[in-house]
Amino acid sequence: MRRLHAFPDSRSLARRIARAAGISLAPVAVHRFPDGESLVRVATPTGCDAYLVRSLHDPNAKLVETMLAADALRRAGAAAVTLIAPYLPYMRQDAVFRRGEPVSQRVIGRHLGAAFDGVVTVQAHLHRVASLGAVVPGNSSSLSAAAPIGAWLGRDADICVIGPDEESRPWIEAIARPVGAAFAIADKKRRGDVSVGVQLPRLPRGCRAVIVDDIASSGATIAAAARAARRAGAAVVDAVVVHAIFAPEARRRIRAAGVRRLVSCDTIPHPTNAISVAALIATAMGGAGTIPP
Ligand code: R5P
Repeated sequence: MRRLHAFPDSRSLARRIARAAGISLAPVAVHRFPDGESLVRVATPTGCDAYLVRSLHDPNAKLVETMLAADALRRAGAAAVTLIAPYLPYMRQDAVFRRGEPVSQRVIGRHLGAAFDGVVTVQAHLHRVASLGAVVPGNSSSLSAAAPIGAWLGRDADICVIGPDEESRPWIEAIARPVGAAFAIADKKRRGDVSVGVQLPRLPRGCRAVIVDDIASSGATIAAAARAARRAGAAVVDAVVVHAIFAPEARRRIRAAGVRRLVSCDTIPHPTNAISVAALIATAMGGAGTIPP
């Protein structure tokens, strides 16, 4: 027997996953003590395979509560506990970029691997490793958002899909090729938190450029890519992001760069959510993978 458990802040996506997978959904109750500590409570049938849903943006407090919930589920009798974290944080600090820094990706991966039997996420930022299994020990996988994004784009002869950096090439190709769209990959140089330089080759004249990125945080990458796309010949620029982190000022920055439409996947609840990954996750869990109307 399988059961999905959701923290209150991830309930709407969890509901869509539960419907797509055809399994029941139970809440995780969270009590916050006056000193800032959290107590979580779960109810799960003995021997069931428990899936815990939580998107881990704004991660620090959530990571602790998520580990506590894994322990609670095991003590309540779950046979296996899998974390479904549609957005997995700390993946970008995957190396010591300056002496004295940690490799946060490995630290977080190790802790999650110890707490859960597996972790399922979407489009994890894995630039220097081949798979999530190398970061999170256990039965872990990072699902590609290429198919739902491609389905949202549809077939449109005017589209040119833009990848903002060289690392994006494989999945930009996986989005563009099935829908027969042109694509271009930018050369990106990050100079600081909100300072990014982007160069693009010439685009098909008058095309609708659709910038696709895994994360928008400061929005500087999408803004710089939008300006570059205009310079390179695009008539219109739209942007699709998987994880809508959007720090303060990010959306203003993106709008000011002339992006007409900005949409995101529902890995992080946000007003720009327009593409659901629920069916993708349900399929990975072995469910039907379609959401009933
Ligand atoms: C970088 O490698 C990522 O793919 C994103 O392009 C980056 O994290 C976006 O960050 P920001 O919105 O702050 O430019």
